[in-house]
Amino acid sequence: MSDAMLSSMKILLGLGLLTLLLPSALPLRCYVCGTAPTNEQCNRNNQTCPVLENRCLTIIDIRGSSRTISKQCATASTCTGIISTSGLNANGDGVLAECCRNSNFCNINGAGSISARRALPALSLLVLLALVAQ
Ligand SMILES: *[C@@H]1O[C@H](CO)[C@@H](O)[C@H](O)[C@H]1NC(C)=O
Repeated sequence: MSDAMLSSMKILLGLGLLTLLLPSALPLRCYVCGTAPTNEQCNRNNQTCPVLENRCLTIIDIRGSSRTISKQCATASTCTGIISTSGLNANGDGVLAECCRNSNFCNINGAGSISARRALPALSLLVLLALVAQ
């Protein structure tokens, strides 16, 4: 393999790494709402999160037949704390909480329905590594 080819491969690899890192370096955008009766109403407002609040948090509060949904930007430790105290009691009442950070507006769904995280960037890195290893 020629030197020129090698260095262009290295540039490619660098760009691949950059696309992996960029999403977490840019401020995240999340849907935000207070206690909305439906997910659809909750998704009417969104905001760009402060840098340290790099998670989108979704909280579903269940009391008997009533449900409210709340969404906000959150720090990693806020997420850990709320998720660790969340859960339903024997009557099926309680709080469900979920955080995501894989993309802007990743809290579009209610809690319990977040899909594949970061699968695409990881795949593109593998392809780049395979090219460089040849
Ligand atoms: C975010 O909010 C702005 C202002 O209300 C709105 O125009 C935009 O469509 C919203 N974005 C999404 C993805 O819902």
